Amino acid sequence: MSGPLFGKLAIVTGAGSGIGRATCRVLARDGAKVIAADRNLKAAEETANEIGTDVASAAEIDVSSYESVNKTVQSIVSKFQKAPTIVVNSAGITRDGYLLKMPERDYDDVYSVNLKGTFLITQQFAKAMIANDSKGGSIINLSSIVAKMNNIGQANYAATKSGVISFTEVASKEFGKFGIRVNAILPGYINTPMVAVVPEKIKEQVKVRCPLGRLGKPEEIAEVIAFLASEKASYINGAAIEVTGGLK
Ligand SMILES: NC(=O)c1ccc[n+]([C@@H]2O[C@H](COP(=O)([O-])OP(=O)(O)OC[C@H]3O[C@@H](n4cnc5c(N)ncnc54)[C@H](O)[C@@H]3O)[C@@H](O)[C@H]2O)c1
Repeated sequence: MSGPLFGKLAIVTGAGSGIGRATCRVLARDGAKVIAADRNLKAAEETANEIGTDVASAAEIDVSSYESVNKTVQSIVSKFQKAPTIVVNSAGITRDGYLLKMPERDYDDVYSVNLKGTFLITQQFAKAMIANDSKGGSIINLSSIVAKMNNIGQANYAATKSGVISFTEVASKEFGKFGIRVNAILPGYINTPMVAVVPEKIKEQVKVRCPLGRLGKPEEIAEVIAFLASEKASYINGAAIEVTGGLK
């Protein structure tokens, strides 16, 4: 086996679907061993089985729970005898609705997964990398172009995805001295189950506004993640990279 990520261990959250699943495939293609982690264990297992269980394994995780994240980190380090040095925060949810009608629960849920989840995973896995004296860490956080578009009906989601950009920048400044790079990606509209619930009319408007005239494919985000994970991106740190087909 070879490839730019040969010898690396990666964990991808939200790996049971969409961008997370495509990322597992591309990281494995590039030579990494991959842990597909998701709240939906069955979906994570499907990802791992599809890639091949010699290279990929599944883990059940709720990124919004300290206990769940902590338990997963410990079991991974004990199983692989090292910490993953590629960490992809792809778990995310939407609970769209107009602000005046938004239930507190919908705000809290989106915050807990998208922003607090990114915090818990980043903190726990960075600690594990440092404790294991791992070299060349790369953490990649999924923000969204919605952090800049700030669409009506997405106050909770837009705020968390803006938060992910700030969080990423702070983490990049704090972790640089440990050789851990932290970057964010802002995808545009990507064809995944998350976007399947967006009304057709809105998707048509997005296509018209997008210079490439189409939605993105999950693989088109995964390829950028694999690049950021690799040594080819060794001087990219604290960046927020738009992958939108030019949609602003
Ligand atoms: N699809 C897009 O157009 C788009 C655009 C911009 C940003 N993003 C972001 O990219 C990421 C991936 O999106 P996607 O389109 O692949 O979504 P998706 O809905 O296809 O997949 C999300 C996955 O996250 C998992 N998940 C949800 N809550 C979790 C939790 N608490 N713990 C662990 N796993 C959990 C789900 O089970 C699911 O498998 C998200 O953070 C999303 O906000 C997506």
